[in-house]
Amino acid sequence: MATDPPVDARTVFQAAGGAETFDRIVTRFYEGVVQDPLLRPMYPEEDMDGSRRRLSLFLQQYFGGPSTYSEERGHPRLRMRHFPFAIGQAERDAWMRHMQTAVQAERFPAALEATLMDYFDRAATFMMNR
Ligand code: HEM
Repeated sequence: MATDPPVDARTVFQAAGGAETFDRIVTRFYEGVVQDPLLRPMYPEEDMDGSRRRLSLFLQQYFGGPSTYSEERGHPRLRMRHFPFAIGQAERDAWMRHMQTAVQAERFPAALEATLMDYFDRAATFMMNR
């Protein structure tokens, strides 16, 4: 509902259902990515297990969960880590489409979904480098 108060990003991890939920979102997201002719070639790994793990742990940390991502990978520096990949409007939009599908499958309350999608929208734009 439009009148729901905004959800603080730091409370999302718990409200969304913890690590399992993020693993599920990221798994669905990559199911879309591997079928995407624009995005698939950017990911070198055969099985994407590493990519899935890194994205899930990053999101858990960002949304108030455990800081395992930074313990394993250091400071996120996401824009810098994305420099090797040519990310223009089309790549950004494809990424967002798969993430939106994955998030919507969770059937979250509207305010929670809006907090997640608002972050992804801004982060994906920030990652553009072409
Ligand atoms: C906008 C379009 C985007 C494209 C095309 C893209 C593509 C990629 C690719 C090809 C990789 C390397 C594979 C890997 O290490 O997993 C990667 C890594 C990663 N991406 Fe993205 N990405 C995008 C946006 C985002 C956004 C919005 C986020 C966060 C909200 C994000 C988070 C990550 C993370 C956490 C990693 C792993 C970084 C590491 O620890 O090495 N990406 N991305």
